[in-house]
Amino acid sequence: MEVREKPIGIFDSGVGGLTVAKEIMRLLPDENIVYFGDTARVPYGSKSKETITRFAFEGVRFLMKQDVKMIVIACNTVSATCLEELQREIPVPVIGVIEPGARAAVKATENGLIGVIGTERTVNSGAYIRAIESLNGGVKVFSKACPLFVPLVEEGWLDNEVAYFAARIYLEPLKKEGIDTLVLGCTHYPLLKPTLKKVMGDKVFLVDSALETAREVEKILCEKSLKRTKEGDPTYRFFVSDNPDKFIKVGERFLKRPIDPISVIDPEIETL
Ligand code: DGL
Repeated sequence: MEVREKPIGIFDSGVGGLTVAKEIMRLLPDENIVYFGDTARVPYGSKSKETITRFAFEGVRFLMKQDVKMIVIACNTVSATCLEELQREIPVPVIGVIEPGARAAVKATENGLIGVIGTERTVNSGAYIRAIESLNGGVKVFSKACPLFVPLVEEGWLDNEVAYFAARIYLEPLKKEGIDTLVLGCTHYPLLKPTLKKVMGDKVFLVDSALETAREVEKILCEKSLKRTKEGDPTYRFFVSDNPDKFIKVGERFLKRPIDPISVIDPEIETL
């Protein structure tokens, strides 16, 4: 197959990476996409560096077997944990979501006070603070891990009372700091946007890295002459490691298109 015709591989621990997939579908409507969500092992965010790295390599190697031309790590936790290792080992361009999110936050803030929310692993890694401060040393970053958000999203509880109260408890301290920009440092969180908006109010800008990441994908495809030349009729294929029904339910509600075809695979076996 001609390399330009090959799909873009998108990897996440679950349904959250669809927030990035949606922007790529919108910005690059001719591109073929293969998505893998590791739903059997989600959440990654409270696991160790070693475990996340092993899961990430298995997921990415599975995507490589689908003959992808580039890989998007649509997961902040993986991007914060082992992006450089993946970039070193995998023979196609691999991009993460933290740099694009940091860039968007620095662009958006007016008062220089930025909040970052993410999984425990992402927040403890300090990856956002490093990325934001290297772009602008003058801003102040406040972070908060929100470990209950991912299970809420995977369950499809996006805008009910439980989601609202969890968000209030997590976000109140950031609100008190007077932040004007909040980075949704986990690709699951944009699905909670209406609830997060309700808690943070209209004056706080919510940054989701999906659009910036899609722009980065476009830039790399152009630079490397990898952009698909045929127009229209893209193929989308979805793979999960467990429970496709739940993935379809939440995914279709968000993507507003059928999640089809979808297959269940075991990344441990598939990549042997
Ligand atoms: N969606 C992921 C992220 O961006 C991971 C969530 C998880 O598996 O804990 O961090």
